[in-house]
Amino acid sequence: MREFKQLDLGAYVISNEHRCSWDQFEQYLTLFQLKPSFNQIEKTQVLTECIQEKPIKKFVNEYWTSMQRQSTPIHEVSYRACFKPQLPCFFIERLTNPSEVVYDPFSGRGTTIIEAVLKGRIGIANDINPLSSILAKPRLFPPEIKEVERRLAAISFDQKKKADIDLSMFYHPNTEGEIVSLREYLEQSRRNEDAIDSWIRMVATNRLTGHSKGFFSVYTLPPNQAVSPESQKRINEKRNQKPDYRNVKKIILTKSRQLLRDLKQKERLNLEKYAEQSYFLTEDARNTKQIPSNTVQLTVTSPPFLNIVQYSNDNWLRCWFNSLDDRTISKKITMARTVEQWSSVMGDVFKELYRITKPGGWVAFEVGEVRKGKVKLDEIVVPLGLVAGFKCFGILINSQVFTKTSNIWGINNNESGTNTNRIAVFQKEE
Ligand SMILES: C[S@@+](CC[C@H](N)C(=O)[O-])C[C@H]1O[C@@H](n2cnc3c(N)ncnc32)[C@H](O)[C@@H]1O
Repeated sequence: MREFKQLDLGAYVISNEHRCSWDQFEQYLTLFQLKPSFNQIEKTQVLTECIQEKPIKKFVNEYWTSMQRQSTPIHEVSYRACFKPQLPCFFIERLTNPSEVVYDPFSGRGTTIIEAVLKGRIGIANDINPLSSILAKPRLFPPEIKEVERRLAAISFDQKKKADIDLSMFYHPNTEGEIVSLREYLEQSRRNEDAIDSWIRMVATNRLTGHSKGFFSVYTLPPNQAVSPESQKRINEKRNQKPDYRNVKKIILTKSRQLLRDLKQKERLNLEKYAEQSYFLTEDARNTKQIPSNTVQLTVTSPPFLNIVQYSNDNWLRCWFNSLDDRTISKKITMARTVEQWSSVMGDVFKELYRITKPGGWVAFEVGEVRKGKVKLDEIVVPLGLVAGFKCFGILINSQVFTKTSNIWGINNNESGTNTNRIAVFQKEE
């Protein structure tokens, strides 16, 4: 895409049909009841608090839960600080009509855009880190498993090849040779990369390191946090382990099968129809000139929090595999150390969101609780949205009670035994 070229979205925006109005959404949240067996807070707690002298409603309930295993496994690509697909799904289904535009300025692994397209909406994803679209875009164009199988069989692997950096602490020499062969193949085919090669690149990027036999590496941290070579040497010593051989093609096929299973016919049809109309940008979220004004019906996003996540440290190996310079990328990623710095960046993000949001359109801005609940970013975000011109609908707090079952599914639970998402919700006036 050429720089500053505006995206052609106008043709796909349709009239209000099914989505909730402000009042309907408020009533819906207030009267909300999930199935009783889900151990939820029974009734919505509606509290009104003053933020900078403005009364703001807070709606607390278990609006979605990992117990609803309704999302497709195609989302199951790990990424630091990603949210569950149930979160964007909740807002997409209630605040947009089919064919409308859904946006995420901090797209990460692409949870919002993938969920939007699966639900028959047009998605726009933006992330300053090019790894984001490498991980997200191929899942909008999923190949058949047979095609992946055939393509992998056609790629020749030389187990004797060596990487240009020392990776011996992560990989058996033969596995390293296979990874290097795949990297070279993908580098050569990059210019004309088709959906099958992009898929293989995405899966391989996701399988580089991890803590089970389903990854190319010896036991290390979870796949979204590549440790440094020095730390890996320490892990190997402590665990008295040496990298054993892992079959790269077999692992890619197994993970592909997992991602593609249970994709419903309706979702496939939506992907076929809407993926081509969706867009990926690699801009700073404060400046996304390609998106025309007044076009986005809904933004669902989760920004980088106060320097909690070191995206560059996490991603050095993924960047190496994709021939990306992790240091250049890390300089562009927002790493605010203070609340003031963070607010200044997010204030500009809100101004840009106001420009691109359709009159009557919505923003759902998810923030966590930082520094053990001492900094409530949702309360910091509210004035930023108001200054940009939005009306603040309120703060939705999804409070999920901790259970053993949800722990098995890998939910991070905080100390009080609940898993909380706090989402500041705004609307642009009609
Ligand atoms: C909390 S993560 C988003 C995770 C996402 N919701 C998901 O489910 O995968 C924040 C993302 O913001 C990106 N980011 C950081 N600073 C940015 C900026 N100034 N503009 C655009 N993206 C940025 C990071 O690369 C990271 O992927």
